[in-house]
Amino acid sequence: MSVSGKKILIAVSGGIAAYKIHFLIRDFVKKDAEVQVIMTPDAEQFVTKLSLSTLSKNPVYSDFYGDNGTWNSHVEMALWADVMIIAPCTANTLAKMTHGMCDNLVIATYMSAKCPVFIAPAMDLDMYAHPSTRQNIEVAEDYGHFIIPAETGELASGLIGQGRMAEPETIVKAVENFFTSQTSAKSLEGKTVLITAGPTYEAIDPVRFIGNHSSGKMGFSLAEEASKRGAKVILISGPSSQTTDDKNIELHKVTSAREMLNKVFEFYDRVDIGIASAAVADYAPKEVAKEKIKKNDDSLTIELVKNPDILKTMGEKKTHQFLVGFALETQNEEENAKGKLEKKNLDMIVLNSLRDEGAGFKNDTNKIKIFTRTEKKEFNLKSKDEVAADILDFVEAQLLG
Ligand code: C5P
Repeated sequence: MSVSGKKILIAVSGGIAAYKIHFLIRDFVKKDAEVQVIMTPDAEQFVTKLSLSTLSKNPVYSDFYGDNGTWNSHVEMALWADVMIIAPCTANTLAKMTHGMCDNLVIATYMSAKCPVFIAPAMDLDMYAHPSTRQNIEVAEDYGHFIIPAETGELASGLIGQGRMAEPETIVKAVENFFTSQTSAKSLEGKTVLITAGPTYEAIDPVRFIGNHSSGKMGFSLAEEASKRGAKVILISGPSSQTTDDKNIELHKVTSAREMLNKVFEFYDRVDIGIASAAVADYAPKEVAKEKIKKNDDSLTIELVKNPDILKTMGEKKTHQFLVGFALETQNEEENAKGKLEKKNLDMIVLNSLRDEGAGFKNDTNKIKIFTRTEKKEFNLKSKDEVAADILDFVEAQLLG
């Protein structure tokens, strides 16, 4: 499960590790999470509100009161959050949290929060090992909070040992794992998802073909994500080097567009969600030469005929299926993508632009926009596995209505 669209409240307390919070905020924002930062008065000695608010794209508060007699509502912020992260959490802040010593905005917000709380302690070696800290960590665990243990290494004092705040990637991973565990209630249990993937090869003669650079990665990532969510997955892939050992995925390898079409319609009636991520060749040679074509002449003409549009056919025969298409555009992107949504009778279309660096065919990353008839959502550049999670989150939200 991705953190896309999740509301993350980060509370910074006054330790040297506060400098790492810039990277933590940036990582969450890159993953399309909404981030709000609050800080203790002491934390302002280590990092500035300006840098934190620039990265989080939201104002940063450290006090109950604004400059013009306004009130920064800790209750509102606490109830807004899907998760709260205290990082770095100093010995002092940890002690206040576990004893209800509510003398600053961070503790008041923490005590008003009903969401899961993650604590990333950071302190010097002996402070981290001190019985009071050990006890406070145990108490925080008893409260149901998630402790992201400090790491071992060189500390600001020069001592070496446990006390360094966990790296931002570790904190992000812990939060992502939490959201994944929430959805491991198998949100697609009982659903059959059919996915087309990869390129198609259209034979010219026994040794040559017309194809394209599609790697099939996006389709395989979608298949694995759907399987994780409990779906029965039918993956119909053109020639690609991708493999999967996921037993929940029924993989059918095909070569040409016609074979892909026939395979899709072997299953189509029992499909709940159809996702066409294949880069199907639009044309195929009218005739396939029986023998290898010799290079006798200076030029060679191959007559091409239009291939069937698999997704359009799925759209025409749609009864109950939820259909998702992909559009790879180089110009008038949004207009063309929305046109395809209508023309192919889809419920949702995923646009990736060849103009975006890192997006499209061969890369491990992709940058997408999703359109339905009424909604539009834009995502940042991410790994194809994360993009697959974003797409399925969106599908699930549409199905739930
Ligand atoms: O029309 P265009 O090829 O841009 O549409 C892209 C979408 O249609 C993709 O989802 C692709 O998998 C699907 N498609 C198809 N059969 C074709 C051409 C495209 O299923 N012959």
